[in-house]
Amino acid sequence: MSIARDRMQYLKALGLPSDAELIRRARNFLLESGLTQSEMAELMGIPIGTLRVWTSGSYGANVPHAQDNSLSIRAKVKDYLDQWDETHDDFLNRPHYQTSDFATIRASVLDAMENGVAYLVDGPPGTQKTHSFRRVAAEINDHAKGHAVYMRVRCEQAPSSFLVECCIRAGIPSRGNIDQMIRKLRFFLSGRRTVLIVDEAQALSKTGLEVLRQLLDEPPYFGVILGGSHNLSVTLQHWQMEQWRSRLRKTHLLTGPSHREAEDILLEQLGPMSRRDVDDTIDEAMTETMRDSKRVRYISARALFDAIRSAKAAMAAPAVEAAAQPELQEAGAA
Ligand SMILES: Nc1ncnc2c1ncn2[C@@H]1O[C@H](COP(=O)(O)OP(=O)(O)OP(=O)(O)O)[C@@H](O)[C@H]1O
Ligand SMILES: [Mg+2]
Repeated sequence: MSIARDRMQYLKALGLPSDAELIRRARNFLLESGLTQSEMAELMGIPIGTLRVWTSGSYGANVPHAQDNSLSIRAKVKDYLDQWDETHDDFLNRPHYQTSDFATIRASVLDAMENGVAYLVDGPPGTQKTHSFRRVAAEINDHAKGHAVYMRVRCEQAPSSFLVECCIRAGIPSRGNIDQMIRKLRFFLSGRRTVLIVDEAQALSKTGLEVLRQLLDEPPYFGVILGGSHNLSVTLQHWQMEQWRSRLRKTHLLTGPSHREAEDILLEQLGPMSRRDVDDTIDEAMTETMRDSKRVRYISARALFDAIRSAKAAMAAPAVEAAAQPELQEAGAA
């Protein structure tokens, strides 16, 4: 198989959000950050023309397999926006909802840490994976319940670079070869129960998964949480992955917040709403994904919170205009 085709297969298997979803996310980011498109392209290391054409929605439009043409740029944009969220998002001070998926993930992270086992969290885009992982990791670390090391695998990241980052995030010197880094992680983290939470784990190569399994296999028996798209479950079902499978306690298939949870979130965030408005907003937050060749529809938490943000901005707009009015009058009188 050619390198280009290999790369295409890899990018397809990442289970990336659709163009429409990522363009909405990129536009929101541009609005909130105040960055221009050229600044964003420069920071991401891609040509401005490519970003412009893609955000205008005409990247490979009207051609067969249009979604495949944008795989590379979607992978880059998602990586960039996720990295931004991770380093700048004040997520602990934003509203948090105890949804049933959050409760399940929380219980699994704690069990993985206590008992040195692994869980797989398989969820399409926007189904609360990152939010839940980071929230539970903060709870574990802030309340000294143990040690949680949250990691996000980047697109095409090499196993050694993944381990270097793991060492850095765990506060351990990160030099040496793969074996040395594994030994250091085992040695320095043996004093406390530790869970490694690996987000976007579908981006790990088979060698990367193998390296991670070595951390699970021997004392001090780290707990491991793998979070990612459905392709990760498919990879782990492969016969060569028997050793991984025998260590997985459970796989959680996330399907987004339930209709009831979404309704409660909307009403709490936006106040009283008509039944029709509630249903329409939830309908707009419905997203489609493929699972085992079947189309699955689910409520995307990301689309729901984006809709809430837009509604709040629309509600605030008349107030801002009204507040500006007296100034204009005063200026006129002067
Ligand atoms: N329980 C929750 N309470 C409050 N906000 C939430 C909750 N779950 C998710 N969110 C918000 O919804 C958005 C999407 O969630 P999140 O980033 O966790 O999805 P994800 O499954 O990691 O998506 P992706 O696969 O695209 O990385 C985020 O802005 C997040 O803060
Ligand atoms: Mg995520």
